Amino acid sequence: MAVRTVYLASDHGGTVLKDAIISHLSERDIELVDLGTNSSDSVDYPDYGFALATALKGRGDAAGIAICGSGIGTSIAANRFSWVRAALVHDVTTAQLCRQHNDANVLALGERTMGQATALACVDAFFSTDFEGGRHQRRIDKLSQPASE
Ligand code: RB5
Repeated sequence: MAVRTVYLASDHGGTVLKDAIISHLSERDIELVDLGTNSSDSVDYPDYGFALATALKGRGDAAGIAICGSGIGTSIAANRFSWVRAALVHDVTTAQLCRQHNDANVLALGERTMGQATALACVDAFFSTDFEGGRHQRRIDKLSQPASE
């Protein structure tokens, strides 16, 4: 996955992992944009998932990393936007699959549910794996159709 910009957002449950990922990615020729939060003060994960989704609008050359305690809240929040495909992953296999089959543009991680080394390995897998297209593109296209009530 070739991206120019990576937006990162977390609630208070994900700041330590977010900082570790920023440090991990800082050697690469990628613009890193930290959308917060940056303290342990309690905040609401929808605000950060929404900010990440908003930053990605119209940005086919960008990707996002969403982090909270479990990764669940921020991934749900980001996925409310039609241009986001946020994948909550827990290992390298799912990090690869969300790129190969789902063309995920947001990697969601839980700081409290996985070790930091595994999370960083997921980041590397996410950015080094391409979408396979083909039958998977047809399925991605269906995700863009309006859902019924
Ligand atoms: C915050 O305590 C926690 O609920 C949040 O980080 C996340 O895990 C929610 O899905």
